[in-house]
Amino acid sequence: MIKNILKWQGGKSDLFYGPIQSHLPKELFDANKNITFIDAFTGGGSVFLYVLYNCPGVKRILINDYNYRLIELYYAIQTDVDGLIKLAQELQDGYDSSLDKSKYYYDTRDEYNKFNSWEYLDRAAHTLFINRASYNGIYRENSNGDFNVPWCKKDVINTVKPDELREASRLLNLSSVQIAFTCGDFEYSTERYVTWGDTFIYFDPPYRPLSSAGSVSFTAYTKSPFNDDAQIRLKKYCDRLMNRYDARVMVSNSYDPNDNFMLNLYKDYKIVQIDAFRSSGGKNAMRGTIKENLIMNF
Ligand SMILES: C[S@@+](CC[C@H](N)C(=O)[O-])C[C@H]1O[C@@H](n2cnc3c(N)ncnc32)[C@H](O)[C@@H]1O
Repeated sequence: MIKNILKWQGGKSDLFYGPIQSHLPKELFDANKNITFIDAFTGGGSVFLYVLYNCPGVKRILINDYNYRLIELYYAIQTDVDGLIKLAQELQDGYDSSLDKSKYYYDTRDEYNKFNSWEYLDRAAHTLFINRASYNGIYRENSNGDFNVPWCKKDVINTVKPDELREASRLLNLSSVQIAFTCGDFEYSTERYVTWGDTFIYFDPPYRPLSSAGSVSFTAYTKSPFNDDAQIRLKKYCDRLMNRYDARVMVSNSYDPNDNFMLNLYKDYKIVQIDAFRSSGGKNAMRGTIKENLIMNF
């Protein structure tokens, strides 16, 4: 079984196999249903993998993220997993045989930031390699949109896990589910996939920083950080999905005992606090077991 494709900040596999599971709509688990599922902030892929394994009621899935490198990788896994494995293995072999692994990483990262003319499979292989060879699987861009995370400082990395990639490919090609990919903003690229009365959308945005975390908190997955205006826009979009399409929505976000922003924003929704384990993200406030908000309109 594969639980995620990339190491990803805020990855949700433990929570979907843990405390989130019991809050999901029951229809997802009923093979007689005909649900559209939208994973609006796909990240490392753990949520759509969970749904593909566990939710026979879901017949259509939209996989969306603002980061086109992720979406290209998942598309490559679906369409040519063997070609992807071959190219990723070449990068891994280069790393293994390199005497200066730091240089190999930074040279590859430079190419990665200029790779627009490459074939999509080559870009996808680089995304896999960079995710394994960079520090802690963090994805961060500078103001030019260049990936700028340092080397992981490990001599041994494991870019290619062929069995896991083939398993992900099998899931992404299941004949019982139609899968679509979009790359863009959660609002502008998902609405046209919503079907009236039977859509469930999970939103896992960059979390609002805890007041105790100060400026070191992590919201910079992309060159435009996810600020309070974006959090408010997301809430308005949830309202629209509910009012216009009778959709069910679920949102994950931070729980801050010293600040009521989230509780006020979603005061007309059901909110529960769940326990999550976080291993990174800045100050100690983001490490260990912390509470998170799980917000639902059902
Ligand atoms: C908390 S992570 C999602 C983690 C994911 N659920 C997982 O299990 O790996 C947030 C994601 O939001 C994406 N993102 C940031 N701004 C976005 C936007 N405006 N629209 C869509 N995706 C966005 C980032 O690229 C990042 O992958």
